[in-house]
Amino acid sequence: MSQRSCLSVILAAGEGTRMKSAMPKVLHAIAGLPMVAHVVKAAEAAGATGLALVIGHGADEMRKAVQKFAPKAETFVQEKRLGTAHAVLAAREAIAKGYDDILVMFGDTPLIDAAALAAARQKLAEGAAVAVIGFRPPNPTGYGRLIEKGGRLVAIREEKDCSEAEKKLGFCNAGMMAVAGNQALRLLDKVGNNNAKGEFYLTDIVELAGADGLDVVATEASFDSALGINNRAELAEAEAIWQARQRREAMLAGVTLIAPETVYFSHDTEIGADTIVEPHVWFGPGVKIASGAKIHAFSHIEGATIASNCDVGPFARLRPGADLRQKAKVGNFCEVKQATIEEGAKVNHLTYIGDARVGAGANIGAGTITCNYDGFSKFFTDIGEGAFVGSNSALVAPVTIGKGGYIASGSVITESVPDDALAFGRARQKTLPGKGKELRERFASAAAAKRRAAE
Ligand code: UD1
Ligand code: CA
Repeated sequence: MSQRSCLSVILAAGEGTRMKSAMPKVLHAIAGLPMVAHVVKAAEAAGATGLALVIGHGADEMRKAVQKFAPKAETFVQEKRLGTAHAVLAAREAIAKGYDDILVMFGDTPLIDAAALAAARQKLAEGAAVAVIGFRPPNPTGYGRLIEKGGRLVAIREEKDCSEAEKKLGFCNAGMMAVAGNQALRLLDKVGNNNAKGEFYLTDIVELAGADGLDVVATEASFDSALGINNRAELAEAEAIWQARQRREAMLAGVTLIAPETVYFSHDTEIGADTIVEPHVWFGPGVKIASGAKIHAFSHIEGATIASNCDVGPFARLRPGADLRQKAKVGNFCEVKQATIEEGAKVNHLTYIGDARVGAGANIGAGTITCNYDGFSKFFTDIGEGAFVGSNSALVAPVTIGKGGYIASGSVITESVPDDALAFGRARQKTLPGKGKELRERFASAAAAKRRAAE
C-alpha cells in the first residue's frame, strides 16, 4: 500500500457556532495542538502524501495556523457551505492531480487513529472504489446510518432522511472515507441536493458508486476515534480521551505514573523509560525527558530538556529553554528559563535562574535570583563549574562567576567574580551589646504613656 499515493482532503469550513468562540472551531487545541493538526498528523501517519484543507469561516486565521502545523498543505476556500460533497469539491484542483487514494476527513474529529484510516485505504488497494469508516456510538441519533446488504454497503442515510426502521440501525457513518482517486471527481460531480437539508451530501457517492457496479465497503473504527467536537464540553471529553491514551502509552513504554489521571501531557511530550512522574504534573509543549529522571509532584514544565537521572520539583517551574544536564537538581519553588543547568548542579530552593548557565557541580543557595532584565533588555549570567552561591543572593546580569567562585549569602553581585574568589556584596554586620534591651524598654514606656493619655 505504501506505493499508492494519497491525498487527504480535510473539511474544516464550518463555523462551529456552538463553541461560542472568536476562533475557528478546529483551531481549538487538544494537548496544546489545534484539533485539525491532530487530523493532519493522523493523515500523515496513514500515508497521506498530499494535504488539502478546505476552509471557509475565519480563512485568514486558518491559513496562518495551517502554515505552522502543515506548511506543505494546500488550502482551498469553500465560499458557501452547501454540504460535505460540495466542500470536498472545493479541493477539485488537488484531487485532479491524480492520486491513487483520496482520504476525506473532518477537521473536527481529532481522535481518529491512523490505523482506521489505513484500514480504509487497504480496502481501496484490494479493489474497492469507496471504503467508508463506520462506528457504533452508544446513541446513534444525529449520525448517518450505514445500510448494508449482503456484506456490502449500499447507502448512507442521514438521520433526517431515515425511515423509522433505518433509525434503529446502530452502525453509523463516522464521516471519513477513502475514495479511489480515479473515481472521486466523477462520483462527486453526480451528487445532487435533493434531500431534507437541501445539501450536497458526500455520503451520496455510496449509492452512486453502487449503481455503477463499483465495490463499496464499510470498515469499523472505535467510538472514540470518530468523536466529533461541536462544543467545549466535547472538547474536554476528547482531551480526556487523548490524555488517557497518552498516559497508557507512556506507562507501557516504561514510565511510572503514580497517579496517571493527574498528569497532563502535551502532544509532543517525550519521556524515557524508568522516569518517575509524581501526581499533578503538567507538561506543556516541547518537553523531552531522558530515562531515570524523577519529576516530583506539582511541577509545571514546558519547552524543557531534562537529561537522565535529573531530579525536578516538587513545585518546580521549568520554562522554555531550560536545559538540565545529567543528574542536575531543580527543587521546590524554583523557576528556570532559557538556562543550562550542567551536570550535577543543584538549584534546590526558591530560586529564579533565567538567561544563564550554571556550571557542573555548582550549588545555588536558597532564594538566589539572576536579575536578568532591566525593564528593556535581557542579560546573561554565567556561573562557573563548582561555584557556590550563598542564599538570598542577587546576581545582576550581565555577570560572570568564575569556576569555584564563592558568593557570600545575601550578596548583590554586580561585578564579575574571578575563579576561586570569595565575593561579599553586602553591608558588614554591626552588633551593639545591650542595645536590644534598651530599645525594647523605650518602646514599652512610650506605648504606656500613649495609653494613659487616651484614658
Ligand atoms: C456528517 C455525515 C454523517 C456522519 C457525521 C459524522 C454527511 C452528509 N453526513 O454529518 O453521515 O454521521 O458527519 O460526524 O457527510 N463541512 C464543510 N463544508 C460544508 C459542510 C460541512 O467544510 O459545506 C465540514 C464541517 O465543518 C465538518 C464536516 O464537514 O467538519 C462535517 O459536516 P457536518 O455538517 O458537521 O456534518 P454532519 O451533519 O455532522
Ligand atoms: Ca458534525
